[in-house]
Amino acid sequence: ETEIISVDKNVDEKESYKQAVEIIRNGEVVAFPTETVYGLGADATNWEAVNKIFEAKGRPADNPLIVHVDSKETALTYVQEVSAKALQCMDAFWPGALTLIMQAKPETFAGNVTANLETVGVRVPNHPVALKLLQELKLPLAAPSANTSGKPSPTLAEHVYHDMDGKIPLILDGGPTEIGIESTVLDTTCEPPVILRPGKVSKQQLENVIGTVRLSSDNKNNTPKSPGMKYMHYAPAAPLYLIENEEGLIEKAIEYVRGKGKRVAVISKEEYPEADFNFPLSMATLYASLRKCDSTDADLILASVETGGKMDEALMNRLEKAADHKWFS
Ligand code: TXA
Ligand code: MG
Repeated sequence: ETEIISVDKNVDEKESYKQAVEIIRNGEVVAFPTETVYGLGADATNWEAVNKIFEAKGRPADNPLIVHVDSKETALTYVQEVSAKALQCMDAFWPGALTLIMQAKPETFAGNVTANLETVGVRVPNHPVALKLLQELKLPLAAPSANTSGKPSPTLAEHVYHDMDGKIPLILDGGPTEIGIESTVLDTTCEPPVILRPGKVSKQQLENVIGTVRLSSDNKNNTPKSPGMKYMHYAPAAPLYLIENEEGLIEKAIEYVRGKGKRVAVISKEEYPEADFNFPLSMATLYASLRKCDSTDADLILASVETGGKMDEALMNRLEKAADHKWFS
């Protein structure tokens, strides 16, 4: 039921986009590639269209969506009271993996895009297919990640197809996404600005441009500032445990689990011949690896992590969520 069209990143082919543009203008949902993960896009000014995103994903209505636009200039037509720091971020990081939370102009977006908040998250994606689509569409495109709620975000068109087959009319297949985890979300409506979700654009990179930035303590006991934080799981079906990549520790854990007659998958930079399944660990491959675990009969998954700040903070953040903060012991 769901059609897939291959779009060549390097070819400027109007025909490939025409169908997608028509479908979106008609109030339907289209999946498309960005440099982070695949998005599930609908006309951000059309309540019914946006509601189809929530239905297809099974997403809670109080979790607002990111609005995608083709340029800083377009973004500025939809927001107000934009801080100087937000403008500096646009110049430094757009197009790119940074979503800026700003004050929305009233009556600009359908209420379900922002979950009726006065703020909106906006970004200009750095992907030729996404940009071309946005330029042809001439509408703001509300788009969360194109996965079923709670599942890892899609980094391949086949991941989208797995979750969305029969639920949406069209997927634009632009090949694997380059970055592999979702954009950094920065709240620029407060001072100092706060990172609500870590991503490829790091705290240090932001601070080099706008000075001090706070990292929101993603504490379970606090009311999350980014409504999505309380829902994010990225969880594979089998229980996932973090384990420190220390001399012999992972081998011992594998032996222990297998000794109980259970099958174990390891997500790591290294291969463990003792494990039943091995999948690669990097920012670009994490979500695909989590999904591959689901297609095995592994009873338990171990993810090898390096502590002491040796690992990328955004990658560590996604691993902790996927493991629900469980450590193997
Ligand atoms: O890389 C990405 O950001 C991908 C691609 C498709 O662009 N999109 C994505 O969207 O990850 P989504 O909906 O899965 O995540 C949006 C995050 C959620 O955590 C949401 O709560 C937060 O941004 N967010 C959106 N609008 C917000 C707002 N007004 N205030 C605070 N947080 C907001
Ligand atoms: Mg998501």
